[in-house]
Amino acid sequence: MNPAGPGDNARSRRETGRPTAGQGGFLTVPDSQLADRSKRTRAPGRGSGAARSPAAGSRTVLRERVKELTCLYGIAQIASDFDLSLESKLAAIVRRLPPAWRYPRRARARIVLDGQDFQTPNFREGACRQSAAICIAERVRGAVEVHYPEDRDLRGKTPFLDEERNLIDNIARQISLMIEHEEAVAAKAELREQLIKADRLAAIGQLAAGVAHELNEPLNAILGFAQLAQKTPDLPSQTRRDIERIADAALHARNIIRELLIFARQGKPGGAQVNLNRIVMEDLNLFVPLCEKAGVELRRIVAPDLPEIPANQSQIRQVISNLIVNALQAMPGGGILTLQTSFDQDSVRLRVDDTGDGIEEELKDRIFLPFFSTKDVDQGTGLGLAVAHGIVSAHGGEICLEDKSGKGACFSVTFPRCRETLAGEETP
Ligand SMILES: Nc1ncnc2c1ncn2[C@@H]1O[C@H](COP(=O)(O)OP(=O)(O)O)[C@@H](O)[C@H]1O
Ligand SMILES: [Mg+2]
Repeated sequence: MNPAGPGDNARSRRETGRPTAGQGGFLTVPDSQLADRSKRTRAPGRGSGAARSPAAGSRTVLRERVKELTCLYGIAQIASDFDLSLESKLAAIVRRLPPAWRYPRRARARIVLDGQDFQTPNFREGACRQSAAICIAERVRGAVEVHYPEDRDLRGKTPFLDEERNLIDNIARQISLMIEHEEAVAAKAELREQLIKADRLAAIGQLAAGVAHELNEPLNAILGFAQLAQKTPDLPSQTRRDIERIADAALHARNIIRELLIFARQGKPGGAQVNLNRIVMEDLNLFVPLCEKAGVELRRIVAPDLPEIPANQSQIRQVISNLIVNALQAMPGGGILTLQTSFDQDSVRLRVDDTGDGIEEELKDRIFLPFFSTKDVDQGTGLGLAVAHGIVSAHGGEICLEDKSGKGACFSVTFPRCRETLAGEETP
């Protein structure tokens, strides 16, 4: 802190009537904090306050104290207003700062948070300034600043009082607490939202598994008897075609049920060591002719020395196939499909990136729900991503839609490298 200049006290008395050193009257104020403040005010060499009466000095201190408390009270009120956004709160708080300072009309204030500025009207930086850091979770995220831009009269002197140092520190602390609280509330709301989503998916999974079991038996009967009827000799051709359709429809329905059962995690993840690179480079070769036909360039970028993951190989293949089918369907006019593997200390990741139509913002929340589809009935069942989600979760992993600036959609699938995190597996 800058020391006060010799001419400071004279000016401070003229401008604000503040007390200066030597005014013993401070101690007569019955408020213990007030007394404390007055003691701190008496900086060495701060002018001669002997001309002022003790009562006047007390009144002045009291007035300053009221200014300070009014500011802090105002900030507390703004911070507890649930209807205001964080931005509105900071914009309101910054306007409360100059009135609490020694030269209210000349002071300008600014709050900086994560590079965003909130300023009082006509804000300009000045050579005379005071600031305190906004520190959240031990990280400096911004600052509270008070400036005197028109510093002609103040040149070479400090216009700031000791109490103002305490005040600005106090304000920065209050703002930090407010932001910490707001962010904790937002994180809690997001967590609750995720839990509700996971709960809903689990409930749908249970329901789907029940329905699938119930339907499996009659469907098998339909399929079996249709195939038996097909063997009947001398069937009229129309009847044969009809029976064929019944068998096809039953097969289609059985496939859906199979997917539903996977979604409901009927199968355990299994514990074989699976190499994602091998799946990408070898197993997915069956998609090469499909890509060529669709005019899609298939790029495969694999990380050398990719660690293996404990997983069920055919289920992982199913996840990647579902993502590739979606990507191809999203690029009817051709494009680029990129599969890329990577890893870090804890996890192995596969990204499936296409240059297709992309996914509209308002649909992003619903794509993992079973039976959600934007496609025609013969193009999609709406189970591809739900199944992928079920499998990946059962492996203790995560599948998510990544933010993408360019055209298309990008899904990333992350699997844990460690065995213990496998869901559904018994610990030895
Ligand atoms: N790569 C993609 N590009 C654009 N949209 C996609 C992509 N992947 C999924 N979607 C959207 O998510 C929806 C759900 O996908 P999915 O569960 O696989 O069901 P389906 O493919 O049978 O419609 C799709 O209907 C589509 O709207
Ligand atoms: Mg699909």
